[in-house]
Amino acid sequence: MAGIEIVPTGAALGADVVGLDLREPLGPEVVAQVQEAFHTHAVLRFRGQQLNKAEQVAFSRYFGEPVPHPTNTRDRDPEQPEITIISNIEENGKAVGALGNAELTFHADLVFLHTPGSISLLYCVETPTTGGDTYWSSGYAAYEALDEATKRQIANLGVVYVHNNPAYNPPTPPIHPLVCTHPETGHKTLFLSPNAAQRITGLPADAGRALLDQLYYHATEERFVWRHHWQPGDLIMWDNRCTLHRRDGFPQDQRRLMWRTQLLGPCTQ
Ligand code: OGA
Ligand code: MN
Repeated sequence: MAGIEIVPTGAALGADVVGLDLREPLGPEVVAQVQEAFHTHAVLRFRGQQLNKAEQVAFSRYFGEPVPHPTNTRDRDPEQPEITIISNIEENGKAVGALGNAELTFHADLVFLHTPGSISLLYCVETPTTGGDTYWSSGYAAYEALDEATKRQIANLGVVYVHNNPAYNPPTPPIHPLVCTHPETGHKTLFLSPNAAQRITGLPADAGRALLDQLYYHATEERFVWRHHWQPGDLIMWDNRCTLHRRDGFPQDQRRLMWRTQLLGPCTQ
């Protein structure tokens, strides 16, 4: 084996994978090692990469089937439709990608779909000198830290998700379990994406809102969070089923360019 090294961040989640050139095909033992590290740490960072888009898609394929971004058709690369451009850069007055330079609050990707994002991969091509850091929080650690009464209270609740852009919403909104059992690790995780969580099924609106707020506050406490400062050549893959992420805004007069690939799959009860 090529002797890859897994170096945990020391935070509640996240690890560096050292010793891999992701342009090269990976042998089955290495793939198994990376998958195991992913299941343990939920977010993996591979630094110092030099990928082209086809190589990013090929790497993503070790973990499932990358799909063209289901709602963002505008920023798909026509040559490589599995790549979505995440950028603030404008050419001829037109944005070349999605999400601009804005701050993004904590969320899991594509949670407003019946089959939400499972794994997202983001590769950094260009990064600003200040701002644009990304943060992940651990749904496993957040769940574990709940008191037993709260665990019992939320065990069988579902959350209705609605995106604030109606164009993205399916005809009927999805309901995802508030506590999921991760399909690959078997661990329980809090699954709550505050950006699009509309209500809790079976609870009066006020009580549901209060519970969502309480759990959101809890799930994003600093003790469950890891902060990442990007360098060009960083590839990060994260598991939306057991993490949330957010990012800082950054100055619009600086360039940030990322390529993103997406796998889909639910976190089920
Ligand atoms: C995303 C996202 C974070 C970032 O692409 O889903 O949240 O750091 N991006 O740009
Ligand atoms: Mn996201």
